[in-house]
Amino acid sequence: MAISVIVGTQFGDEGKGKMVDYLAKDATMVIRYQGGDNAGHTVINDYGVFKMHIVPCGVFTPGVKNLIGTGTAVNPDVLIEELDMLETAGVDISNVRLSERAHLVMPYHIALDASMEGRDGIGTTQRGIGQTYAFKSLRKNPRASDLLDVSKFENVLRSAANAGLADLNYSVPRETIEKWSKRLVPLLADPLEMIHGEISANGNLLFEGQLGAMKDVDLGEFPYVTASHTTAAYAAVSGGFSPKLIGTIIGTAKAFSSAVGAGSFPTEMSEAESAPLRGTGENPDDEYGARTGRSRRIGWLDLEVLKFAHRLNGFDTMCLTKLDKLDALAEIKVCVAYKSGTAIPIYDAMPGWLSDTSKVKTFADLPENAKSYIRFIERQVGVPIKYIGNGPSRNDVIVNE
Ligand code: GDP
Ligand code: IMO
Ligand code: MG
Repeated sequence: MAISVIVGTQFGDEGKGKMVDYLAKDATMVIRYQGGDNAGHTVINDYGVFKMHIVPCGVFTPGVKNLIGTGTAVNPDVLIEELDMLETAGVDISNVRLSERAHLVMPYHIALDASMEGRDGIGTTQRGIGQTYAFKSLRKNPRASDLLDVSKFENVLRSAANAGLADLNYSVPRETIEKWSKRLVPLLADPLEMIHGEISANGNLLFEGQLGAMKDVDLGEFPYVTASHTTAAYAAVSGGFSPKLIGTIIGTAKAFSSAVGAGSFPTEMSEAESAPLRGTGENPDDEYGARTGRSRRIGWLDLEVLKFAHRLNGFDTMCLTKLDKLDALAEIKVCVAYKSGTAIPIYDAMPGWLSDTSKVKTFADLPENAKSYIRFIERQVGVPIKYIGNGPSRNDVIVNE
C-alpha cells in the first residue's frame, strides 16, 4: 500500500494535471480532495487535449478508480458536462465516483461570487467556490447524498434561504434537481469505504491537489487566496485517514512562475519579458487560464515561494515542469531571497542553455546549464527533483532517478 499526494508549490497551474495523468500508471485510485471547478488541469494524451475541472486526472488510465472526494465543492452541471465530454472523447468513465459527503455548488453561490467580485473583488474564478465552502461552514449546504431525495434537497435549499444571508434566489427548479439526481446518484460512493477499502487491499492511492501553496486559505496570502486547503495534509483530513499513512508528498513547480487573480507577485516580469513565455494562447501550453482563459501573470522562479511550500508540505520529491519553455532564454533569473523585511526579490542570474530540450529523454542528455539550473533549485530548496517536464504531453517527462 502506498499513499502519495501531489500538490502545487506556487500559485496554481504548475502542471499538476499532466503529472497526475503521467503518474496514474502506478496508481490504483486517484482522488481529487479539495477545490472545485476553479481548477483547470491540462492533460494531453492519446485521447486528446483536456482541461479537467473536477474529474480526477486518473480517469484516462484504464483500471484506475477515480474519486471526487469529500473536501471538494462540486458543481453538478459542470460534472455532468465533463463526464459527457470525456465519454464523447472515448474515455471510460465507469470508474468515476462522487463522495456522498462532497458539497455541491448551487447557482446562487455563483451569483453571489459574481456580485462580491463586482464590489470588492480578489480576482476569483467566479465559480462560486468560496461561497459553497462558506455555506458548508454554516451547515446550510446541499451535499451530494442529498440528491438521493429531491424533497430533502429542497429542504436544504429552503434552510439556506431562511438564513437570510443575502437577497438571492435560493430555489432550483425541481426538474434540475431531478436531472442532477438521475445522472449523479449512480456515482455516489461512501468515501471512507472506498479509501479504507483501497488501503486494506494494498492499493496505491494518489491524491490530486488543486491550486498551490501560496493560495491556501489559512497559510497563503490572505485575502488573495482560495477557500480550501491546498496543502498535502488536507488529503488525510478530507480523506478520513491517518496523516501517518501518507508515504510520498510530491511538489509540482513550474520552471518559472505564473499567477492569475490579484495579490502580490514579487518576481513578476515586465510585459516584454513575459510575452515569449506566455505565448499567444494558440497552444495548449500557453499561459492562459485553463479555467477562465485569463492571461496569466508571469514571473521568474521564486525560491522563497518554493521553500515556503516545502515548509508547509515537507516534500519528498518535486516535479519541475516547463523546463522546455526556458530553452530560448540567454539568461535566467532566479529569486534566491527577498531584501530584508520586504518582498523585493534578490536575483541570481544563470546562463541559459539555448538549445531544444523537448526531445531529450534522460537527465544525462540535458544541456549542462539546464542540469545546473535543476541542481541549483534542488540544493536551495533541499528537495530532489525526480521528474522534469519537457513538453505538455503525458510522456514528456524525464525521470531523474
Ligand atoms: P495545473 O492546474 O497545475 O494542472 O496546470 P495547468 O494545466 O493549469 O497549467 C499548466 C500548463 O503547462 C498547461 O498548459 C500544460 O499543458 C502545460 N505543461 C505542463 N507541463 C509542461 C511541460 O513540461 N512543458 C510544457 N511546454 N508545458 C507543460
Ligand atoms: P488549478 O488547480 C490558478 C485563484 C483565482 C484567485 C483565487 C481565488 O488549475 O491550479 P477562487 O475562484 O478559488 O475563489 O479564486 O485563486 N485560482 C487559481 N489560480 N489555478 C487554479 O487552479 C486556481 N483556482 C483558483 O485566480 O486568485
Ligand atoms: Mg490549472
